[in-house]
Amino acid sequence: MRLSDCHNFADFRLLAKKRLPGPIFNYIDGAADDEVTYRRNTKAYEDVDLIPNILRGVEKIDTSVTVMGQKLALPFYCSPTALQRLFHHDGELAVAKAATKYGTMFGVSSLGTTSLEDVRKIGDGPQAYQFYFHKDRGLNRAMMQRAKASGVNVMMLTVDSITGGNRERDKRTGFSIPFKLNARGIAQFVMKPMWGINYMTHPAFSLPQLDEHVKMAPGAMSIGGYFTEMLDPAMTWKDVEEMVDEWGGHFCLKGVMSVEDAKRAQKIGCTGVILSNHGGRQLDGSRTSFDQVGAVVDAVGSKLDVIVDGGVQRGTHVLKALAMGAKAVGLGRAYLFPLSAAGQPGVERALELMKLEIERDMKLMGVRSVAELSRKNLAFRNNA
Ligand code: LAC
Repeated sequence: MRLSDCHNFADFRLLAKKRLPGPIFNYIDGAADDEVTYRRNTKAYEDVDLIPNILRGVEKIDTSVTVMGQKLALPFYCSPTALQRLFHHDGELAVAKAATKYGTMFGVSSLGTTSLEDVRKIGDGPQAYQFYFHKDRGLNRAMMQRAKASGVNVMMLTVDSITGGNRERDKRTGFSIPFKLNARGIAQFVMKPMWGINYMTHPAFSLPQLDEHVKMAPGAMSIGGYFTEMLDPAMTWKDVEEMVDEWGGHFCLKGVMSVEDAKRAQKIGCTGVILSNHGGRQLDGSRTSFDQVGAVVDAVGSKLDVIVDGGVQRGTHVLKALAMGAKAVGLGRAYLFPLSAAGQPGVERALELMKLEIERDMKLMGVRSVAELSRKNLAFRNNA
């Protein structure tokens, strides 16, 4: 199987599975508890039907959107995700270059493996920073100042990870950062020597956003352990309000689900909310983010940008979210599997396919611009 054989999410996932050592593949592919929310995230999009209009003169279409003050050529972006150099040795740089080429936004994680400064050198396209709120307030302030200095455009504070989700696949393999694998995990690395050679012959793994502040034990710390030990479960609206003031620019909360929280985010000065359940990786049984778009847009959509992520695998999924009123859609595994499968060309192919799907589907829907999509284009199956 080669990159040119990949035509959709399932194909990229399969190629990533062939290339990656099992523990790494399962870290990306896995979710919390019984992975119910993970599965439902995509299914939610399948439970609503598109209603197209015809004869609308769609020879030229405009796929651009403006979200969080950023003009994007496409209505989707690459959400910030952790540890990308473990998935492919080019990591964040590969994703940032591909996103920049396609005129869209990408995010760098607090747990990113490339520095904010190095990623910024790629271009002046919109860059988001995914921020984890640590117990150490000094660290939080230093991270914000560094983000400001490095030219980050949008601050995304993750609010759904104050403690580690129960990732049972990671428990089975012993997946942790850097590495503390059990015998089964080690055996799975031995089976993918090419990954090992690439890993050994490229710059050493590091977490440059945190290196100066966090001493990773030489053994390692699991992702769940990091959340639980380093992040602050005492974080409140007051802390976030102070952060929003200090940042003084576009600021959104990533992981909002309730209407009440979205209203509160708007009151404390956030310019956006990202409806998200962290790809089903935190609270299993949580409602799907897509199913919350309507109520949140109705409550606060005229006052801040409502963004959604989770389970998006197709252009039609993006169009459904936009038709409900979301301003843009975040991709996660939909670019991580392509990154793992083939680095930058993999991500480019995934973005290209998603772009072509959206262009084709907008024409088939009879809309010339994203703004022409509305709830009249949707029918929910349970109301049919
Ligand atoms: C995860 C974090 C690191 O889901 O975002 O693993």
